[in-house]
Amino acid sequence: MRKKIIAGNWKMYKTSSESTAYFSEFIKSATKCKFLEKTVVLFPPFLSLELAASRAKGISESLSVGSQNMHQAEEGAFTGEVSAKMIKDIGAEYVLLGHSERRQYFAENDEAIANKLRSAVDASLTPVICVGEDQGQRENGRHKEVVSIQIKEGLKNLSSEEIKSVIIAYEPVWAIGTGLTASPEEAQEMHAFIRTLMGELANEDIASKVPILYGGSVKPQNAAELFSQQDIDGALVGGASLEVESFIEIINAMP
Ligand code: PGA
Repeated sequence: MRKKIIAGNWKMYKTSSESTAYFSEFIKSATKCKFLEKTVVLFPPFLSLELAASRAKGISESLSVGSQNMHQAEEGAFTGEVSAKMIKDIGAEYVLLGHSERRQYFAENDEAIANKLRSAVDASLTPVICVGEDQGQRENGRHKEVVSIQIKEGLKNLSSEEIKSVIIAYEPVWAIGTGLTASPEEAQEMHAFIRTLMGELANEDIASKVPILYGGSVKPQNAAELFSQQDIDGALVGGASLEVESFIEIINAMP
């Protein structure tokens, strides 16, 4: 059985004090949250990561944290950057790589993502690789081609065995923060396509185990329908993860 994963990407929201308040509220609501057989991961900003890592385990063994980005080098003269080893050292277990906002605003390309992925795996961080087409690419019918290139290029430095440790997040750029969501059928079609591709890059057994998350305006109102699709193994949630109540509703929508 594949892991069911609900992840929350806070982006550049919440100071450390606001993060502390979030975890206090989460503790109060924890009994309402159906963690059973699910992995829940929060991606706060770097400055809240250490406190998040220590609070998360107090809430549930199923709750982990990860960073939203990292540098590919082990260490070095890279002012302003953070390495996989530093992230791991403060108790985080996951890293988001290639989020479309990183690709769009920070010129992150597939080459850099492939190198970051290599370093993340070397540091025993679990990577969540984000892929997805923009509106123009979808309208031109190029969405599968775009996603296929992002996955093949992004994973090129990993062996088939290492692909086992990767989580894929399909996030159509036109659905992120827009209130537009891919229909469950559109999302399922892409997830099935990604799973077939993983079979070609690794093998069918590994492909059947790699969790593929959907992201892009996931809300309590649409989560259950998305989760009912065969190849949707969870969600990467932005806006709706910023409030404990809506995030818990999404976690609970996963059967
Ligand atoms: P959204 O963001 O849920 O606010 O659309 C998703 C994401 O960027 O990961």
